Amino acid sequence: MARKKRQQRQLDRAIAAHARGDLDAAVSGYRRLLAARSRDHEVAHQLGLALWQQGRLDDALLLLEAAVQQAPSVGRYWGNLGNARQSAGRLNEAIAAYAEAVALAPERHAAWSGMGVALRGLSRLTEAIAALHKAASIPGAGAAVWQNLGSALSADGQHVEAVAALRTAAAMVPGDGETHNALGNSLMATGQRAAAQAAYRQAIQCCPDSAVFHTNLGILLARSGDSEAAMDAFEDAIAQDASYVDAYTHLGLVLRASGHVQPAVATWQRGLSVRPTPEAWLNLSVALLELGHVAAGVENLRNLLGVFSHDAPALLALAGALVGLDEHEAAKRRYTEVLALVPDHPEALHFLAALQDRAPARAPARYVRTLFDEYASRFEQHLVSELGYRTPQHLAELIATVRPGPLGRVCDLGCGTGLMGALLAERCDPLQGIDLSSEMLAHAERKGHYDALHLGDLEEVLATLGAQDLLVATDVVIYIGDLSGLFAQAAASLAPGGLLALTTEHIDGAGWRLLPSGRYAHSAAVISALAKAHGLLVLREAVVPIRQERGAWLDGGLYVLRTVESGQKSSG
Ligand SMILES: C[S@@+](CC[C@H](N)C(=O)[O-])C[C@H]1O[C@@H](n2cnc3c(N)ncnc32)[C@H](O)[C@@H]1O
Repeated sequence: MARKKRQQRQLDRAIAAHARGDLDAAVSGYRRLLAARSRDHEVAHQLGLALWQQGRLDDALLLLEAAVQQAPSVGRYWGNLGNARQSAGRLNEAIAAYAEAVALAPERHAAWSGMGVALRGLSRLTEAIAALHKAASIPGAGAAVWQNLGSALSADGQHVEAVAALRTAAAMVPGDGETHNALGNSLMATGQRAAAQAAYRQAIQCCPDSAVFHTNLGILLARSGDSEAAMDAFEDAIAQDASYVDAYTHLGLVLRASGHVQPAVATWQRGLSVRPTPEAWLNLSVALLELGHVAAGVENLRNLLGVFSHDAPALLALAGALVGLDEHEAAKRRYTEVLALVPDHPEALHFLAALQDRAPARAPARYVRTLFDEYASRFEQHLVSELGYRTPQHLAELIATVRPGPLGRVCDLGCGTGLMGALLAERCDPLQGIDLSSEMLAHAERKGHYDALHLGDLEEVLATLGAQDLLVATDVVIYIGDLSGLFAQAAASLAPGGLLALTTEHIDGAGWRLLPSGRYAHSAAVISALAKAHGLLVLREAVVPIRQERGAWLDGGLYVLRTVESGQKSSG
């Protein structure tokens, strides 16, 4: 009896030590007790937890397993065993332990939540979300459960639902920076930029020293077009943690987008000296290529691929540089390597076709969309300021020679960032734009010249817009080889007397070609044949220099066409 009392006092002391965080005292107390009472599952369980807290996961797992073997009907033991297995990365075994825990005690939200997190770790998202919903539905479920649910929903692309779950978590623990940051990410994914910015700022208020939160705020500000504030945010991130490479990567991207290529290069070099991530290395190489340091850019890409040989973006960049150097055979080999890694890679497929003189009817929409989503932030700086792009001005002047006054219903096909809209808007009623790239459209929207902007393929969207008085397409058919679909839709959409104004990359002779640059070029003869076939009359045509490429001017074709059968079509 006295021995029992003494052991109870020992257990109480060990538990008290455990509770106040004195793990060494707790572990030695539990061990002494276990030496005397080897089958005491509660002591084994407590010792397992204390060892786990000391970071001795293997020893902890042995004791937690022993506890469930000795007392398999205690749900709490299974739950903690699940947690320990989860932190050991043994996710399937963790799920099995959680399943025992919830079978014994279905109201244990912690076990449901642990199961959900383990399922998410195995990418079994539907089951994960179901388990986390169950956890969240149990009274007493805390902020962690809602945060886990939010993060699983966001991983599954259910961003609206994720926002709701994360807002619940944030309301429960308003001081948790991670929750506000996750909420910011989900709000970004739903396009709610102002709310996302508020969430990131809240996260930073909770944890001002988090480089990740400052960087996320910077990314959002950069996407919203506020380059100065974005740069400040990235600088803040670097000030908090000079080894956080992502901040250098993004700071360099904003600098490059603002035309500061040399400072961008210096920033990426700083990032690379911290840690050579393939992304920072790639950015540096591409910027060197852009600055005209082709040999240095290619050498960096080759070095990068020496370390990260399966880096598809680096292979693509090297292939592109080789095309620029007219090393077509070497470029083909690199594109083929990309396709071995990503068999349906649209850019590699398109360029390989171009280099093999096989010409698909048009560039894949996925390639065009990715190209311009990535290019959008520096499109105008690069094309207009650096390459002397003035095609919209040339075409607007040519249109004015035919129709100097009001233009009526106008649709800008492949409107991009809205350069053409800025020239025509005042004379349009209404002016609409169509583009495949949401990032290009975001820039057009900010300019405020368009009455409506539509995301999608120009032919498909145009078919839904009703009759138009003027269709413009500047520098767009360079992504479409066979223009018969576009001409057919234009003829169907134009009101009597309506105009189609377009520009091409010009080639002499007949027909159209896919060039090694991945762009299509069209002859005046093919435009005139298409016009004839679709009831359009060529009113104006001109060949002018449209922009520079590799130091030389490219010729562009400018055309203004009008419907032939005036008065025969309804204006719908
Ligand atoms: C070189 S940019 C020209 C943008 C604008 N027209 C200008 O002159 O500034 C080409 C644009 O056409 C868009 N585009 C290409 N093919 C398209 C298609 N089939 N449907 C809609 N947009 C397309 C691209 O996303 C890109 O924004």
